[in-house]
Amino acid sequence: MLELIGRKLLQKLPAEVAHDLSIKILASPAVFIVSSKQISNPVKLLGINFPNPVGLAAGFDKNADAVNGLSSLGFGFIEVGTITPKPQVGNPKPRLFRLKENQAIINRMGFNNNGVDYLVAQIEKNKPNCILGINIGKNKITPNDLAVDDYIYCFKKVAHLADYVTVNISSPNTVDLRQLQKSKNLIQLLKSLKKVQIELQKKTNKYTPIVVKIAPDQDSETTKEMAINIKNSGIDGIICTNTTIEKNNLKKEKHQNETGGLSGKPLLSRSNEIIKTVRKEVGPDFPIIGVGGILTDEDALSKIQAGANLVQVYTGFIYQGSQLIKDINNKLIGHKEENNT
Ligand SMILES: Cc1cc2nc3c(=O)[nH]c(=O)nc-3n(C[C@H](O)[C@H](O)[C@H](O)COP(=O)(O)O)c2cc1C
Repeated sequence: MLELIGRKLLQKLPAEVAHDLSIKILASPAVFIVSSKQISNPVKLLGINFPNPVGLAAGFDKNADAVNGLSSLGFGFIEVGTITPKPQVGNPKPRLFRLKENQAIINRMGFNNNGVDYLVAQIEKNKPNCILGINIGKNKITPNDLAVDDYIYCFKKVAHLADYVTVNISSPNTVDLRQLQKSKNLIQLLKSLKKVQIELQKKTNKYTPIVVKIAPDQDSETTKEMAINIKNSGIDGIICTNTTIEKNNLKKEKHQNETGGLSGKPLLSRSNEIIKTVRKEVGPDFPIIGVGGILTDEDALSKIQAGANLVQVYTGFIYQGSQLIKDINNKLIGHKEENNT
């Protein structure tokens, strides 16, 4: 109830003001007034025991300011970032828009973040009590031919703190970032990261799985090629998908023509298509995390049926709050039981 009132009030504020305020509240002890019991629906993936398969997607807590507050809402895992080597301000405001009629968001944040050293300090200070993914990217000023250095720099800084690391090469809001999805660039990037991952494992005795987050906008041949390149590079899993630049078929409303990545309901079917294509290509055992357009428990089930092992939410969490996490888990538990009888 308290959360519902809070969410209604937040929705009256401009989107980014509401977001920044939510992070402040979730980072404060006040959050424990609305905290929920951890939902038990265990899944083992990437060698990690997830308490439940519903995670918070990257981009909500970019700097790891509110990890424990967020986890107290019932998420099975939290992905922080995208973080870059140096702090950067991102694109000029306004850059975050609610499309309520479409149950969607358009954002062109542009990797605004406080830099990897700040994130590391936050995690060391607050000691996360949940499964933690750390999503890494490159600075805007780093040219693509030096991008590998940014990813390696961030990976080395965060690997010891993360349960898994996500390599984000699919945001539409950093110019030419998606060029890194092209075969030659992708293979070079992933080969270098794999080498560092193994070197660090030898040094520290800790293996940190790497997953790659891909876009929903390429054709199916390109998606297949990317999936195979990722698997053959020895990478541990794939996150499908980031936001889309495709904005056809939106219901008419105020911000529908803003530049940026579209998330939420209109992304669901496209993102599920990508999951199906990737699953077919990589086989039944390769880890896939499905994200994009989950606004209801049924939407989440459709991702599992498309081939995802875990799901993440962002836009659905903004519109529905933490009740969505409970609804999805109940649905998935019910589905598991049906299939076992
Ligand atoms: C405001 C906003 C910021 C985002 N920032 C990031 C980011 O920094 N890194 C990233 O990998 N994805 C980012 N995303 C994408 C989400 O993690 C997710 O892939 C996408 O929104 C689709 O899921 P959804 O439909 O549940 O929102 C962002 C999404 C939104 C709405």
